[in-house]
Amino acid sequence: MSEKRIVLIIAGGIAAFKSLLLIRLLSKRGIKTTTILTKAGAEFVTPLSIGALSGERVFTDLFSLSDEAEMGHIELSRSADLVVVVPATADLMAKAANGLANDLASTTLLATDKRVLYAPAMNVRMWEHAATQENIETLRTRGALFVGPVEGDMACGEYGFGRMVEPEQIADAIEKALAGITHIDDLAPKPLKGKHILITAGPTREPIDPVRYLSNHSSGKQGYAIARACAELGANVSLVSGPVSITPPQGVNMVYIETARDMLAACEAALPADVFISVAAVADWRAMNATSQKIKKDGTQIAPLELAENPDILKTLSSHKNRPSLVVGFAAETNDVTSHAQAKLAKKKCDWIIANDVSGDVMGGDHNTMILVTENQIEPWPLMSKQKAAEKLAAIIAKEIGAL
Ligand code: CTP
Repeated sequence: MSEKRIVLIIAGGIAAFKSLLLIRLLSKRGIKTTTILTKAGAEFVTPLSIGALSGERVFTDLFSLSDEAEMGHIELSRSADLVVVVPATADLMAKAANGLANDLASTTLLATDKRVLYAPAMNVRMWEHAATQENIETLRTRGALFVGPVEGDMACGEYGFGRMVEPEQIADAIEKALAGITHIDDLAPKPLKGKHILITAGPTREPIDPVRYLSNHSSGKQGYAIARACAELGANVSLVSGPVSITPPQGVNMVYIETARDMLAACEAALPADVFISVAAVADWRAMNATSQKIKKDGTQIAPLELAENPDILKTLSSHKNRPSLVVGFAAETNDVTSHAQAKLAKKKCDWIIANDVSGDVMGGDHNTMILVTENQIEPWPLMSKQKAAEKLAAIIAKEIGAL
C-alpha cells in the first residue's frame, strides 16, 4: 500500500487529549498526519506536543502569511487522502453542515474534496439536540463518515451518549475509510444489538385469477425505513414484505410474500421475536374462489366476486403463545384519528399504535404525521420524513425494551 496521509483537525473539547494518542497509533500504522489545531483545541493540547508526536509542523491560523506561503489553505484541505475531525464538537459540525468558513478548520472542511470522518464528542444533551442530529444527518447525506460517539461517563459528570470512542477505534475507522470502506458504522451505538425485530411492510396482493388481484396503494416506504433504522441500531431484523419496488435495506433478513395468509405464516415462522412492528397494509379481503384460469368476460354479466376476510396478523401475533414482548401496530385513518387508534389498540391487544393520518398524500409520499397511542399516553409527532419517523420509533423502542 502506498503511503497514506490524513489531515487531522483537533477541535476544542476535553477529548482533544486523545488525539495525541491517535497520532502515535497512526504513525505506528504507517499513516502520516498533518494537523490543524483550532483556537479552542489549543486550550487542551499544544502545537508543541502534536508536533513532537507527528514530526510535522502544526497549522493553527487561517491568516498566517508564512503558512499561506508554505501551503495555501485550499491546498492543505486537499493534501491528504482523508480529513479526520477529533474531537468533532457540536460547534464545528454545525459550521461544516452550514458551510461556515471563518477559521482554518472550517475553511478546510468547506474546501476539501476528500472524504471527512468525524469522531463526535460532547455532552449527552448537546448530542441529542435536534440541531446536532439534523447537522449530522446533513453531513451524512453529503457522504461524511462517523465513528461513535458511545455511551458512558462524561467529563461534565453526566452519563449517556456523547463520549468519544477510543483512539484505537478511531484508528481502525481511519484505516477502513482509507481503504474506501464507507460502512464503518459498526462502531456507532448499537442499543438494539441482540434483539430480534419482526416487521411487516407493503401491501398484500390477493389473487382473483392468474392476472387480476385485490390490493392497495401502500408503497412500503415507512416499513422499509423502520427496518433500516432498527438494523442501524444493531437489531437483527426480519422484514416480511409484500410486493413493493424498494431496494431492501442492508443487513436485513428479507421474506417476500404476496398474500395476507402467506404474510401471517411467514411471521409465525419468524418467531420468537422481541418486537413485532406491523406496518403492512394488509388487504382486508381476498377472493373466496380465486381461479387458476383467467376469468373470461361473457359479454352479458360481470363475474361475481365473493370475498372472505383475511386473517388479522397484528391481532394474531398480539395473542400468540410466542407473543413478542412489544407489539406495535399502525392505524391508517382519515378521520377521528386518535379515537380510532385507541379502539384499535384495545381490539388488537397490541402495546402501541402509531396512528397515521392518511387523508393527505401519505400513501406513497415521503412524509408522515403520526400520533403514538399507548394505554395511557397520546403523543402527537410533528410532520416529519418517513426516515426521521422511523429513526424516532427505533430510538423509542430501544428505550422501551431496556436497551438504551
Ligand atoms: N393489520 C394486520 N392484518 C390485517 C389488517 C390489519 O396485521 N388483516 C394490521 C396493520 O398492519 C396495522 C393495523 O393492523 O398495523 C391496523 O391496520 P388498519 O388497516 O389501519 O386497520 P384495519 O384493522 O384494517 O381496520 P379498518 O380498515 O377498519 O380501519
